[in-house]
Amino acid sequence: MRLSNKVAIVTGSATGIGQAIAIRLAQEGAAVVVDFVGRPGAADETLAKIKAVGGRAIAVEADVSNPDLVNNLITQTVSTFGRLDIAVNNAGIETKHPFVDFPLAQVQKIFAVNVFGPFLVAQAAARQFIKQTQAKNGTGGRIINISSIHEDLPMPTNSAYCASKGAIRMLTRTIAVELAPHQITVNNIGPGAIFTPIDADVEANPEMEKALMAEIPLGRWGKPEEVAGLAAYLASDEAAYVTGSTFFIDGGMLRQAGAL
Ligand SMILES: NC(=O)c1ccc[n+]([C@@H]2O[C@H](COP(=O)([O-])OP(=O)(O)OC[C@H]3O[C@@H](n4cnc5c(N)ncnc54)[C@H](O)[C@@H]3O)[C@@H](O)[C@H]2O)c1
Repeated sequence: MRLSNKVAIVTGSATGIGQAIAIRLAQEGAAVVVDFVGRPGAADETLAKIKAVGGRAIAVEADVSNPDLVNNLITQTVSTFGRLDIAVNNAGIETKHPFVDFPLAQVQKIFAVNVFGPFLVAQAAARQFIKQTQAKNGTGGRIINISSIHEDLPMPTNSAYCASKGAIRMLTRTIAVELAPHQITVNNIGPGAIFTPIDADVEANPEMEKALMAEIPLGRWGKPEEVAGLAAYLASDEAAYVTGSTFFIDGGMLRQAGAL
């Protein structure tokens, strides 16, 4: 168990990749705070799955784009589990429109969740990590952002999402350097096509799905659990010397597209 005595927050972990990461971190011994938005009980499935693997977790509702709710998320984490060691910025949204027709309100919403959210959570987590180190109750921390291959790879009709993930790329690089003196590491995971609710439009359209599979050298969707394995490594002490990078997990999609 690589994460015994660690405490982790995973944003947007009622579903999809976030849920798989929350379960995996709990399996590795971390106490987990399952952040969610939406109906009460939305995170119950994640909590039940964590309990089933013998893990410890609570659910806290916090819209990551709201600074007060983000601060409350940290406060509730520390008051329940006594500390914070790992913050995973997983919450994200996307809507697709031709660039010339992209509604401003949707651009703002995507940036609020995908950029301001990780900024606020990383900032609040870093403050807590530094406070713990100063109180000799810890040595640094881990910030892991779930970015996307679209931090590098263009996708027509998805301009706001691609721009938001590009912003996360530079947020990570910048704060990794700034926070390194505090032994806080900051990394991105850049998934390719992972089978989750965010891809419902592609999954529901056989033509689109076939075209997508042709773009993936390994010829299949990735699994949330595969992303979770990478997150568990980055969260662990084994990754103490790893910071400021994006780790793509995409079945070779970026290489085939010739990006980078
Ligand atoms: N599935 C993929 O193929 C894929 C590929 C690349 C990157 N990603 C990224 O992975 C992350 C998780 O996506 P997913 O595929 O699991 O989809 P998902 O829709 O299942 O997960 C997103 C989660 O974020 C939550 N959320 C939305 N707005 C929020 C807010 N304001 N505050 C807190 N939580 C909020 C949702 O309720 C949901 O639980 C996203 O950042 C996404 O961009 C996914």
